[in-house]
Amino acid sequence: MFKEDTLKGKNILITGGGSGLGLSMAHKFASLGAGIAICGRTEKTLRGAVNELKHHGTEVHYYVADVRDFEAVGVMFDGIYTDFGSLHGLVNNAAGNFLSASEDLSPGGFKAIVDIVLHGSFNCTHHFGNRLIKKKEKGNILNIVTTYAEDFGSAFVLPSACSKAGVLAMTRSLAFEWATYGIRVNAIAPGPFPTEGAWTRLFPTKKFEKQYLNRIPAGRYGEHEELANLAAFLMSDLAEYITGESVTIDGGERLSAGQFNFIDSLMSRGKLKTIFKMLKLKG
Ligand code: HXC
Repeated sequence: MFKEDTLKGKNILITGGGSGLGLSMAHKFASLGAGIAICGRTEKTLRGAVNELKHHGTEVHYYVADVRDFEAVGVMFDGIYTDFGSLHGLVNNAAGNFLSASEDLSPGGFKAIVDIVLHGSFNCTHHFGNRLIKKKEKGNILNIVTTYAEDFGSAFVLPSACSKAGVLAMTRSLAFEWATYGIRVNAIAPGPFPTEGAWTRLFPTKKFEKQYLNRIPAGRYGEHEELANLAAFLMSDLAEYITGESVTIDGGERLSAGQFNFIDSLMSRGKLKTIFKMLKLKG
């Protein structure tokens, strides 16, 4: 889909880039020529990821930093500019989530997720944006939200739903406000993509994992490569005129709200068509 130099000359920071979708995006960006900075809380994970990423032949560095800590994020950005000289892109990918009845949530549990997802995205965006504005450089920010950030929220993941809705609002607010500085801000809203982080916390059993598939018209979970391709496009100059957009990638899952969609799950498509024909004849 892309030329091998699509992201050449760009340096991109991916928060939570040591594992899961963050690491998959890092591989894709590096394979297209980008220099990669990844950050996270666990040095061992980051070191392993950097060793993997090196084989693409671009510059790769890791930074141990908790996105919840505004000061530490500032120190990290100073380090990135020292190591790379410049930074062109930021992917706010670091996230936290767990299943809980909302009446059982502790204030600490709610805060933990809001701090990682909403404050973490703000902290990185604020530090990056200020540096870009000061240096009069263009930049590109991509926020990883969810499909439930937009319309419906979601039961049992209240802290995440509130935080991701906030990140989506931040995406659109800043896309307008910072367009004058040449800073683009977009989002990707993924449905479920298998990762250890999400699966261990949100998909408790194999049966649950199988049943969940009934919600997805495409009949399968997303593949990391698919999300990474979309991210690469949005981070590239091919998407220079796109800002303030949230692109959903979910195999059609969010469309399950359509009023008559459910009848597809009642019987085979063949039987449904027979009934439709009978109804037509009666009419
Ligand atoms: C209820 C919980 C809990 C749980 C933690 N807490 N896990 N409450 N149910 N399962 C509460 C704790 O009791 C504590 O509250 C507070 O949260 C902080 O917990 P800590 O363990 O001290 O926090 P910390 O070590 O910072 O860990 C943060 C974390 C953890 C978010 C809780 O799960 C984590 O590090 N996650 C990162 C990876 C991750 O979650 N990936 C999934 C992202 S998927 P008290 O009151 O005791 O202080 C995603 C996409 C969604 O977001 C879309 C998929 C379809």
